[in-house]
Amino acid sequence: MRLGLLASGRGSNAQAILEAIDAGDLGATAVVLICDRQAPAMEVARRHGVPTRLLPRADFPDRLSHQTAIRDALVGAGAEVVALAGFAAILDPVVVDAFEGRILNIHPSLLPAFAGVIAPEPQRLALEAGVPSTGCTVHLVTPEVDAGPILAQAEVPVLAGDTVESLSARILAAEHRLYPATLGRFVTELSARAHQIERP
Ligand code: GRF
Repeated sequence: MRLGLLASGRGSNAQAILEAIDAGDLGATAVVLICDRQAPAMEVARRHGVPTRLLPRADFPDRLSHQTAIRDALVGAGAEVVALAGFAAILDPVVVDAFEGRILNIHPSLLPAFAGVIAPEPQRLALEAGVPSTGCTVHLVTPEVDAGPILAQAEVPVLAGDTVESLSARILAAEHRLYPATLGRFVTELSARAHQIERP
């Protein structure tokens, strides 16, 4: 299975996924990592020998042409599955429709709680709400933000004295386990389905 990655920042989830691929744990090859800004995630991809594309929003006249370029880069790289790994822009239907049911995202809360905002907002809102636990969710991307079918969740306790930073770090450690494992399962199921279609 050929995997495309979209990232905007630090790239620690991309790294966890690429490490799982390198270890042979994932049944996938990373064919491209696309960034919408100069970000450490680009360097993560380079370290793993994954081709990178930099497609900043400012280089395009409007959102649609930017997202069309992202879709074209994914299609051009032959991506079959797409993982959002800290991608900070909302995906347009032009991308979502091209990879319907094959785009995954990780969100730092137990969705549907604290949806619709990006890190570290979900962690800050969890602290503010005083919940005893929060966590992370891997879900399929649909046009409605953070509302696609949930594939897996990991619960993380909120501890006394937690700050946004300490809570985020605890959630991030859970993300690094949950995302590659869920992606691996997803890719295996998708390959099995494709195989069934080819050989009825
Ligand atoms: C993570 O908190 C993830 O849940 C959210 O964005 C952050 C990305 O971090 N979607 P990184 O770039 O993978 O380190």
